This record gives sequence, structure tokens and C-alpha cells, in this order.
Amino acid sequence: MGSGESRGRAPATIANIGPGFDVFGMAIRGLGDEVLLRAARSDSLEVEGPEGQGLPASFERNTAGIVLQALRRASGVRDPLEVLVRKGVPPGRGLGSSAASGAAAAVAFVRAYPETARLGAAVFLRAAVEGEAAVAGRHYDNVAAALLGGFVSIGSAQPLVLVREPVSPRIHLAVAVPATEMRTAEMRKVLPRQVRLQDAVSNVGKAATLALALVRGDAVVAGRCLEDRIAEPRRAPFLRGFEDVRAAALEAGATGCAMAGSGSTVFAIAPRRALAEQSAKAMRDAFGRHETIAKAFTTHVDNSVPLRPALPKAGPRFSLVTP
Ligand code: HSE
Repeated sequence: MGSGESRGRAPATIANIGPGFDVFGMAIRGLGDEVLLRAARSDSLEVEGPEGQGLPASFERNTAGIVLQALRRASGVRDPLEVLVRKGVPPGRGLGSSAASGAAAAVAFVRAYPETARLGAAVFLRAAVEGEAAVAGRHYDNVAAALLGGFVSIGSAQPLVLVREPVSPRIHLAVAVPATEMRTAEMRKVLPRQVRLQDAVSNVGKAATLALALVRGDAVVAGRCLEDRIAEPRRAPFLRGFEDVRAAALEAGATGCAMAGSGSTVFAIAPRRALAEQSAKAMRDAFGRHETIAKAFTTHVDNSVPLRPALPKAGPRFSLVTP
């Protein structure tokens, strides 16, 4: 490690984005995790920051340490590391908290050992998903968006086939983060084992149309396509007030509203900043009517590429395909 220390940051992410269960992810501006690495005599890991309470603070159990261990295996780097995780993404809220720590660690690692960039982005994605698999299930949507930024659509995990696109600033997002936690591992247990053909067709149609609308900046079409008939109906009963929160967002001018990832955060799409602000406030107030404290804010998709060192030639839109 050149200067003796290295830093990485990765953003909060919204997975699924309505109909794209385990397939879509997008990075959002504002919340993020930071990881600081220092050369050390033995491995250690500490968690601090506003959202750090109660998270595993050991190298073996925290996603940052798990991802670093996977990257050391993949690269042959053997140096022991002192790791400081500064949590800005609240855990258990469907905002990709575990993915953000793992992705920030991966970014800090490639900066610490620039020669590992030649391993290619897919190796960093595979390492990051090891952290996710340990705590929340093996899905790429959050980690891909946290490492690559923008909007990510995963065609296949093995072999890895994905497309990354920037999202237009005309897509305004309203986000309400309730105090309630919903653990992804638990929320994956309630998923249906079979889906009806008409629900599958609805999700495929909405997902394909949503992807195009996000990229074009068509907030009306994007919002209309946030409907998910597969995962969200099974999870909604676990989030008190969800239907009222959604109705409040639509009433306030949002064009669509869905659960972020496996919940508990709810987000909405709006065509203008003022409507996004009204929707955020309406969602917070609706949670309040169900005796749930929520923090609400507006934001946009974060189009920066955290894993830039491993993607020096990538422009704003690119694909990754492994054999
Ligand atoms: N695709 C994952 C799920 C995301 O819905 O279980 C978890 O945030």
C-alpha cells in the first residue's frame, strides 16, 4: 500500500426498482459508506458512524472484511489490514447497507493495490457478492449498483452479463426511510416458489419499459412501471402502513411508488423536484399516521462510478460479460 492508507466510498442503492426483482439496481446520491484501510501487523475491523450501531465489528463477519478476504484470495495480496468502516447507510432498510460496506472496501482495496485493477471489474463484483451472500443472500443487484453507480440491469449472474446506464436527472426520487427494520434474509423466506404466468408477463413488460424510461428520463412512464407482482405483494404485509404510504405519494404527485429492495424504505418517482418534495413529505406523514417515525428526503440517481480504477476506459454506459 503506497502511502500506508487508502479510502473508498460506495453509495446506498435501491434494488429491484419495482418489477426487477434481483435484476435491477440503482445508486442514489446522499447516503454512503466509507472504508479506510491501513497497513497493519494483523487484520482488524472497526465500525463507526451514524448507522454503525449493532453491526458485526469483526473482519470475519462484517461484509467489508469478507469482501477484502475474497479480494486477497483473488489477487494474491497477503497484507494484513486494519479496516475502519464508517456507516452512513442505515442497515435493514433495503438501501443496500451490506453491499455499500463491501463495495467501499473493494474500492479502497483497488486504490491501495492499483495493480489489482487488471483483474477486471467482474472479479471485484464476484468478491463483493461474497459479502452479500454471507449476510443477505447471493444477489448482485445492490453490489453491482454500489460498485458501478447509475442504473444496472443484470442479465445473468453466472456467467455475469450486465448492462450499466446513467439515469437522467429528470428522474426525481422521493425516499422515506422508516425506523422499522426488515432483514433481507428474512424477507427472502416469504418469496413465492411459483408465479402466475400473467404476473410474470406483467413484471417482464414493466421491467423492460422501466429500464428504457429511466434512461430516457421519462418519469411518467418510469413511475407507471414500478409495479411488482412477484416479491412486493408478499413483503408488503410486513411493513405497517405501506399501502397508505404509497397512496400518499401518488396523491402528492409521484408517478409511481415501490418498496426499496426488500424494504423497509419506500421510494417514489416524480417528474419535478417540487412534486418529489411533496411526495417525500406525504410518505413521512403517512408513516407517522401508522405510528412509524420515518426520515424523508429527495434525491437523484448517483451516476458516478465508484469502481472507476478497475474500469479506466468505461464511459457512462457500458456492459460486463464473462465467459
Ligand atoms: N433483490 C434483493 C431482494 C434486494 O429483494 O431480496 C435486497 O435489498
